[in-house]
Amino acid sequence: MLRVLYVSTEVHPWLKTGGLADVNGALPAALIAAGIDVRLLLPAFPALRAAASDCGPARPLVPAVGVSSAALLPCRLGGVPAWLLDCPALFARDGGPYSDADGRDWPDNLRRFALLGWAAARLGAGDLDPWRAAVVHSHDWHAALANAYLAIRGGARPASVFTVHNLAYQGQFAAAEFATLDLPDSCYASAGLEFYGHVNCMKAGLYYADRITTVSATYAREIQTVEHGHGMDGLLRARAAALRGILNGVDAQAWDPARDPALPAHFSAADVAGKQACKSALSSALGLHAGAGPLVGVVSRLTPQKGLDLLLACLPQIVAADARIALLGSGDPTAERAWAAAAAAHPGTIAVRLGYDEALAHRIYAAADVLAVPSRFEPCGLSQLYALRYGALPLVRRTGGLADTVIDTDATTLAASEATGFVFEQAETAALGDTLRRCFALWHAPALWRQVQYRAMTRDFSWAGAAAEYRALYRELRPAD
Ligand code: ADP
Ligand code: GLC
Repeated sequence: MLRVLYVSTEVHPWLKTGGLADVNGALPAALIAAGIDVRLLLPAFPALRAAASDCGPARPLVPAVGVSSAALLPCRLGGVPAWLLDCPALFARDGGPYSDADGRDWPDNLRRFALLGWAAARLGAGDLDPWRAAVVHSHDWHAALANAYLAIRGGARPASVFTVHNLAYQGQFAAAEFATLDLPDSCYASAGLEFYGHVNCMKAGLYYADRITTVSATYAREIQTVEHGHGMDGLLRARAAALRGILNGVDAQAWDPARDPALPAHFSAADVAGKQACKSALSSALGLHAGAGPLVGVVSRLTPQKGLDLLLACLPQIVAADARIALLGSGDPTAERAWAAAAAAHPGTIAVRLGYDEALAHRIYAAADVLAVPSRFEPCGLSQLYALRYGALPLVRRTGGLADTVIDTDATTLAASEATGFVFEQAETAALGDTLRRCFALWHAPALWRQVQYRAMTRDFSWAGAAAEYRALYRELRPAD
């Protein structure tokens, strides 16, 4: 059986800062169902340590990257076999996995994630346990150094796959910190992990991994351009033959409006009556009045990536159409203030909840008629996939995974029963405004709206499809295992 060491940092439902956790909470199980022997490797963050079951005896690790005491704890997370990298000095902290409670990056992040990468390479290669991996699959910059530690081993090492979930976050550190890594000096080069005079963890993944994947086909193309490459486009063009997009899926257990425990009523594609009850319940909970226009939901990190400033600029049009907005988000303090001010200015029409609330997120997807995702870039995007299942038509910009998962409503796609939402091209207020107008017009044609909603709710974005693609990729690298 093909053995894969899956290296990452956050896992839904125990530790989540974004969609990466949703992926890690679902893809490993889908890979196991596809016949792969998957083991997770994650830092022993307190929330993961608390979630671990069936723990075996810890295996001490020899000192590395300046860390004198660490151990690997075999256990299970959910149903999946896992190793937790136990190093209380680095990982047993209050606050987030990458930053403290005030959002400041932990000052020793390079050492923290170097230890993860180093342990991944040793464990994957069979130095620490009889189980050795055919493939080490690492995710985002936090796990990317595994690819450098594997590459310097040469010889009979496991193959490496690196998945980019968001190229905007690269894990960049001062050159002087390179010494922390215990890597040969030759790695600190432009043909290596050096990037404009800095140590760049993302680049370790992009340069050293045998294969690179990202989370949609369109984003795989976009990151090879100057506009979306975040400085890595040249390297990605050079590695185009090793790069592919594999679209994320939806965890059909966790996201099913017919039995979601967070909802006050249930519904399905065939019978959406319960959706109206969800909308009434959310509206009274948030103090929103009933109106002639649709209820627009937003569930999002508030960062420039997500383009929600464009939606703010369209508020007069939204208010004039007697639509409402229910927004749940957290992030940039300026964006938080702007949305709070909008809610204060339009009571009953705009409701804003700042913070992180998983159950409220589910209730917004279920209640909303439309989910706005006007992102400037979006590697995959999961919120629009949840919206599709919950009958909230996504209104998105044509970029990354949004372009690959939402089909714009026009005469042709309506006639072919293909339309699932609304798509605009340019990250400009006027373009979003035009698309809101089209959306509001369809809202006033209920039979057509229902047709699009039915199609949206019955689109299949299962993890089984993605798992089959990853399995094929692993097989290309290790046909004999
Ligand atoms: P990203 O990973 O870039 O944030 P995704 O759309 O891939 O974007 O994933 C976002 C995930 O985080 C979804 O599961 C979404 O429901 C959830 N989410 C985002 N903001 C919040 C919030 N404030 N409260 C609860 N869930 C949130
Ligand atoms: C990142 C991206 C998001 C993607 C998620 C999971 O956070 O911003 O688009 O869905 O990773 O791959």
